[in-house]
Amino acid sequence: MTPPSRLHIGAAYYPEHWPEERWPEDIRLMKAAGLTVVRMAEFAWSTMEPSEGQYNFDWLERAIARLAENDILTVLGTPTAAPPAWLVTQYPATLAVDETGRRVQFGNRCHACVNSPEFHAAVERFVTAMAKRFGPNPHVIGWQIDNEYNRVCYCDTCRLEFQQFLRRKYGSLENLNARWTTAYWSQTYSAWEQIPLPIGPHNPGLMLEFRRFVGASYRRFQKRQLDALRPHLKPSDRVTHNFMGWFGGFDHYELTADLDLAAWDWYIGSGHNDPLAQGVIHDLTRGFKRKNFWLMETQPGNVNWAGVNNSLYMGEAHAMAWQAVAHGAEAVLYWQWRSALGGQEQYHGTLVDPSGQPRPFYQEAQWLAREFAAVSDLLSGSEVRAQVAMLHDYDSRWSIEGQRHHRDFDYVEHFTHYYRPLAARNVNVDVLHADQPLDGYRLVIAPALIILNETRVRHLKAFVENGGHLVLTLRTGVKDEYNALLPSRPPGPLAELAGVEVEEYYALEMPVPVQGEWLTGSSLLWAERLQVLRPDCKVVARYQRANGWLDHQPAITETTGGTGRVWYVGVNLDTAAQTKLITRILNTAGIPQIESPPGVEIRTRRRPDGEEIYIVINHNRSGTRVRLPWNGYEHIGKRPVQGTFELPAYSTAVLTRK
Ligand code: GLA
Ligand code: ZN
Repeated sequence: MTPPSRLHIGAAYYPEHWPEERWPEDIRLMKAAGLTVVRMAEFAWSTMEPSEGQYNFDWLERAIARLAENDILTVLGTPTAAPPAWLVTQYPATLAVDETGRRVQFGNRCHACVNSPEFHAAVERFVTAMAKRFGPNPHVIGWQIDNEYNRVCYCDTCRLEFQQFLRRKYGSLENLNARWTTAYWSQTYSAWEQIPLPIGPHNPGLMLEFRRFVGASYRRFQKRQLDALRPHLKPSDRVTHNFMGWFGGFDHYELTADLDLAAWDWYIGSGHNDPLAQGVIHDLTRGFKRKNFWLMETQPGNVNWAGVNNSLYMGEAHAMAWQAVAHGAEAVLYWQWRSALGGQEQYHGTLVDPSGQPRPFYQEAQWLAREFAAVSDLLSGSEVRAQVAMLHDYDSRWSIEGQRHHRDFDYVEHFTHYYRPLAARNVNVDVLHADQPLDGYRLVIAPALIILNETRVRHLKAFVENGGHLVLTLRTGVKDEYNALLPSRPPGPLAELAGVEVEEYYALEMPVPVQGEWLTGSSLLWAERLQVLRPDCKVVARYQRANGWLDHQPAITETTGGTGRVWYVGVNLDTAAQTKLITRILNTAGIPQIESPPGVEIRTRRRPDGEEIYIVINHNRSGTRVRLPWNGYEHIGKRPVQGTFELPAYSTAVLTRK
């Protein structure tokens, strides 16, 4: 894979919605906006194959060529999220079945069962034809498989596949029955065919396996497409899928394992960007493959599907695009270019309106394109480097979501609660799968890592033994990989390392005050009563008067004995106390931080030659002055910067040090 030569800006373009006579004007406007890439065809199946085996690709080839004449490259999507009417009529079993047992109606999208053999056959045939035609095209630089995987199907085929999946994994029913404690409520299975697809709450072991099965189904579906596609691609082509950030329907690490690149679609919906909370989603996506990613879709102003489809403030999307780049994006594409006259998304934001004229937002895209062009070479090949890692795990998330214990306890929010103070101190963070080795990091935070396995325990122990600083939080080490409780006190196999164990946990009706030498605050939603196991484990804070059980008991601990350190945080602190705790931990671990005014984000990307690039983004609606403790050069405005400089509302500076 060759490194990207430029930072792309683009849009989703649907030439099939328009008469061909219009295309030159659209392309002229794209060029004038400064777009360098479009994504096309990801919903164009009925146009590309109007009836079985009758392919109609010429229009797309002409569109790609016209765009290329104007220096705009193409990413193609396989249109499998929108199987056409003729296909689902001819092969009714390709239609998915919903939780209530009803076949899904045709006319929206994602209506196919991704385990249907007939669907697989149709997809393989079509993708092969598309790949043969466009794989060698020099103007096509990448592919997107399908679009935003999300459908979960409950058809008979899926049920049989699930049973096979379990059979392969568990080998015997004795094993499965034991792992899931199926004697509970007489769930013991005596034949594989008896195992249902879970609808609503179910056995925790079965529920966790069902999530894994959904991921495995998508992975197999995606693999078929990759196998059809790859033989026809050029070596430099990259294949991706547009994921949906925190969407939790499947394990994204599994799905991205077979892709060249991760990508995601960033929509705010109602309201506005909360940069301290949204940055983590970019880091999450970058962590899927531990390299730069694409922002395949983002909102030009407003969406059409939220409660209130308000527009972002003027300039806000500009700052958002830079935030994506600062966290490792190599491309930013707006969805979509022009409002289609019909179809379901008539009121969505676009760059060009139904009349064919640029909308006010168009100028904002133009602004961004000019800046991307100015720093594209500088940023080429640069990557985010972090000394702090946060460990992320879909299994733990699903386990908690299945049994929250407090209805407001949310894995993603808890994760973000730890991310926010790091973001406010402008600390780069890698979000890693919890099984990754941890060498090279100074600080590792593992929020609510409820499910432990041997790999993660081994890595965490090695990390601390080698001098690493580790933060474990509440609900850690409660369960095994089958979603069964461990026969030990939490954090189970990490108790010895942390020097502490959890005697009891409490879902809270009211905040509980917490007090330490340098920490005052309260715990919300959750509190764990800790028992110190080792003399070198000291109590950082204790509960004050609460429910009796918690009164004056340890709430947060810190080991001080070895070369490394472990904090166990049995509380869910209020924002101010959380900031205090995390800042203290950052200082103890010796993590460099950068001061910035509120709403100003500073991130670094490192070039292959070792030079650090500072991306400074003003997420505020008004201008501000930023101070840096060094002199540098600003590459957008092409001017030297001495210490302090002015940053207008929603604007960005890209700096290197002198
Ligand atoms: C998703 C889809 C797009 C479009 C947008 C609208 O991201 O991938 O096709 O529907 O939402 O916000
Ligand atoms: Zn199905």
